[in-house]
Amino acid sequence: MAERKKLYEGKAKILYATEDPAVLVTYFKDDATAFNAQKRGTIVNKGRINNAVSTHLFQLLEAQGIATHWIDSPQGQADGREMWVKPVTIVPLEVVVRNLAAGSLCRQTGIALGTPLTPPLVEFYYKNDDLGDPLLTCDRIRAMDIASDDTVTQLQQMAQRINQVLINFFNGCGITLVDFKLEFGTLADGTLVLADEISPDTCRLWNQNETDESRRVMDKDRFRQDLGDVESGYQQVLDRILAHTS
Ligand code: TMP
Repeated sequence: MAERKKLYEGKAKILYATEDPAVLVTYFKDDATAFNAQKRGTIVNKGRINNAVSTHLFQLLEAQGIATHWIDSPQGQADGREMWVKPVTIVPLEVVVRNLAAGSLCRQTGIALGTPLTPPLVEFYYKNDDLGDPLLTCDRIRAMDIASDDTVTQLQQMAQRINQVLINFFNGCGITLVDFKLEFGTLADGTLVLADEISPDTCRLWNQNETDESRRVMDKDRFRQDLGDVESGYQQVLDRILAHTS
């Protein structure tokens, strides 16, 4: 690919245009932030690992009939940090699915860490850093005119299907999928597709071989909570995915 125009730089990724209007390039950085960027750091190799994990999970979901923005993840390019994606208009909602209580759910409700949530919770947060990504209700989404009721229903259904596929897959890797965040976008023809990434940055993943509360964490909570060995947590997620798919 020739000269690329940077379209957008976020906290963890950069989006570039290519000479083909049907293809954008996502570059996965090693930069890590938490608590709305109040905490900043670097996780060595995170970009490469998150791209590889997201690539596997997008391919898995595509194989299950779930449309995503993923096109290809060319190897040997930019140290495996690049993903080619379809251009989408991002729906400004963070869709969080929770199977076990953790994080902000525990802080805001007092539900104990690890409590099973049956059925899983599907929550919407407004993707707006200035407002601190607040939790929304369906009524608020309607009042803010962010998405139609039909789109909200479709997002809930897609999130639930994705959750089932991912729970089963991670179980096969000896990993419990505690919760995760999804983002969706619309293609030029209006089709809703899964976008962004699914990685240890955006999921809580617990090692089923560890019972100790801090040792079992394989995801960005290692960075958020200063648990140490952040890179090896991420690498272990990728290693298990590769072992399980080979
Ligand atoms: P929370 O418990 O902090 O609300 O996070 C729920 C899930 O969403 C967890 O897997 C981490 C993920 N997440 C993101 O991917 N980006 C974010 O900005 C936040 C706050 C959470």
